[in-house]
Amino acid sequence: AMLAPRERPLAGRHVLVTAGPTHEPIDPVRYIANRSSGRQGFAIAAALADLGAAVTLVAGPVTLATPPGVHRIDVVTAAEMAAAVAAALPADAAVMVAAVADWHVAAAPQKVKKGDKPPALVLAENPDILATLAQGLQRPRLVVGFAAETERVVEQATAKRIRKRADWIVANDVSGDVFGGEANTVHLVTADGVESWERLPKAAVARRLADRIAAALVLDPF
Ligand code: CTP
Ligand code: CA
Repeated sequence: AMLAPRERPLAGRHVLVTAGPTHEPIDPVRYIANRSSGRQGFAIAAALADLGAAVTLVAGPVTLATPPGVHRIDVVTAAEMAAAVAAALPADAAVMVAAVADWHVAAAPQKVKKGDKPPALVLAENPDILATLAQGLQRPRLVVGFAAETERVVEQATAKRIRKRADWIVANDVSGDVFGGEANTVHLVTADGVESWERLPKAAVARRLADRIAAALVLDPF
């Protein structure tokens, strides 16, 4: 096969990226959220687009600018994110950076009033978007997950890689100030082992990961 020009090695490839948190409504005015800023996922989408990929970015509620050349789909809940990911297939690779809420509640149709009995938040598990994608009929050739951990980072990420059937897991140590911050400390967990990267700006993590994705897709064109 003809090689893509070196500067745009992902030309002609479609890469799906999820980013940001999801919000799970409690009632029309309240929701459950998490600390994800979306910055690492948006930086990865930008880096992949810089390498020539057609990037679909499924974004939870964040206040970030869409990177140039990226096709962005905004969603709010985990269920909406799951549907948007399924609708964006097929893709050559997927990078699931979103901090998807693990649970949703049965939302009240009207605003709950302070004078009411305090609502019991009965949580139900959300679909696992990464595991569904990695085990589905339209599985992208390269499936990359993230793992946000506060302890036993590499051990838990390694278990997640196998459990979800992802190819790679980027293990994210979130015990520091990573949320909303400019830098990230990650370990790349693959079938070949673990690579620990030095603490880097999120844009540099994104560029290094995009380069690795390009190398994986170009070296193994099937
Ligand atoms: N993920 C997903 N759908 C979910 C939950 C997580 O697609 N409902 C994805 C995330 O985008 C990430 C990976 O799975 O790529 C790991 O997310 P994480 O929250 O670290 O793992 P969980 O399996 O949810 O386990 P836990 O939160 O208990 O550590
Ligand atoms: Ca989780």
